[in-house]
Amino acid sequence: MIFSRANKTRNLIAGRCESDSMTRFRLKYAPWYRSIEAQRGTHIRVDGRDMIMLSSNDYLGLSFHPRVIEAGKRALDVWGTSPTGARSSNGSRGYHEELESALAEFLGMEACHVSSAGYLSCLSGVAAFATKGDCVIADKNVHSCLWDGIRLSMASVERFSHNSPEDLRTVLQAVPRETAKLLVFEGVYSMEGHIARVPEFIELAAESGCFVVVDDAHGFGVLGRGGRGTVDHFNATGGVDLIVGSLSKSLASTGGFVAGSRASIEYLRTHSKQTIFSAALSPAPAAIALEALRVLQEEPVHHERLWANTRRYTDLLKSLKLDTWESETPAVPIVLGSKEHAYRFWTHLLEKGVFTVMSIAPAVPVGKDLVRTAISAMHTDEDFERIAEAMTYAARRL
Ligand SMILES: Cc1ncc(COP(=O)(O)O)c(C=O)c1O
Repeated sequence: MIFSRANKTRNLIAGRCESDSMTRFRLKYAPWYRSIEAQRGTHIRVDGRDMIMLSSNDYLGLSFHPRVIEAGKRALDVWGTSPTGARSSNGSRGYHEELESALAEFLGMEACHVSSAGYLSCLSGVAAFATKGDCVIADKNVHSCLWDGIRLSMASVERFSHNSPEDLRTVLQAVPRETAKLLVFEGVYSMEGHIARVPEFIELAAESGCFVVVDDAHGFGVLGRGGRGTVDHFNATGGVDLIVGSLSKSLASTGGFVAGSRASIEYLRTHSKQTIFSAALSPAPAAIALEALRVLQEEPVHHERLWANTRRYTDLLKSLKLDTWESETPAVPIVLGSKEHAYRFWTHLLEKGVFTVMSIAPAVPVGKDLVRTAISAMHTDEDFERIAEAMTYAARRL
């Protein structure tokens, strides 16, 4: 018998999927989920056309580094394709521990735990530690994974104005002294490119007894001594409890990490549902991240080139009088102010062979609709010529 739903009760959720206006909008204008047909470094092919990638998080440009590629291949030969289980059961392997030790040492933390996605790691850095009755205090612009972590924790939440120690002070004063508090912010804000005001934040956190969690997905490999991240940039490692982040940006892989004291990492392993019930990081991405971390330390040229390219790129955008939201890092938004302007600017760049990502409200604050761009150590002089031509073309048509 072939089952039919005809004449049965209407399936409301399936109906919602078919009629959703946001999905229709997305499919009509197709700015997201663009499929890239081929890639070699910063050069990609989309719809049969050669383009320059200008929105990748591969800040150090290590995703095509021969040593990093070779490490991924070797891991498959040695460990097979998958750990086929969670760390808590059958999925723990020596390669996890090797990567965790290297990351902990690099970050100046006692211990580290890696997982299969940055999203999961960052989420669990909040969800496993805060609980019902606690209060999480968050910068209002933090990443979606941290909001999900807050929601899952069942703690109450207070927001403070983006990157504002003054507002954080006011918010902290309103939270009862005896309440357990967790402060969470990003080291580098992925959309805005802003660097968190870490010294002021950790000072206020220490006064109020906050457990401090910094999501440094975009600061790792970019800021600090040799790319040790935003907390190191401010020489403030002693002032934070956890640094959480991603392996999918400067480390050219996929996966995530939580680094902290040995006690906090063991606590995470006991209490984090994302850790206990999700399959462990696979061999190839772990080996890739470890080799990229070694390359970062042994070949400072990538870090140097990233910053030289960042200066060159932001100078170009300034000369065209584009609004970069005062970005201080290689993640550089071009704020256009409305979704229509953002869409037009994004289309003009695409026309000229430069691939970027459009981000509109509610993903960004109202009036901050933007095109997100990111420069990489891999961009060459030739790439810059094409980027400059495309930016000039798009800026003139604003
Ligand atoms: C600030 C921040 N945290 C966490 C993540 C999640 O990392 P991943 O994409 O590696 O899962 C991202 C991803 O863009 C991010 O920007």
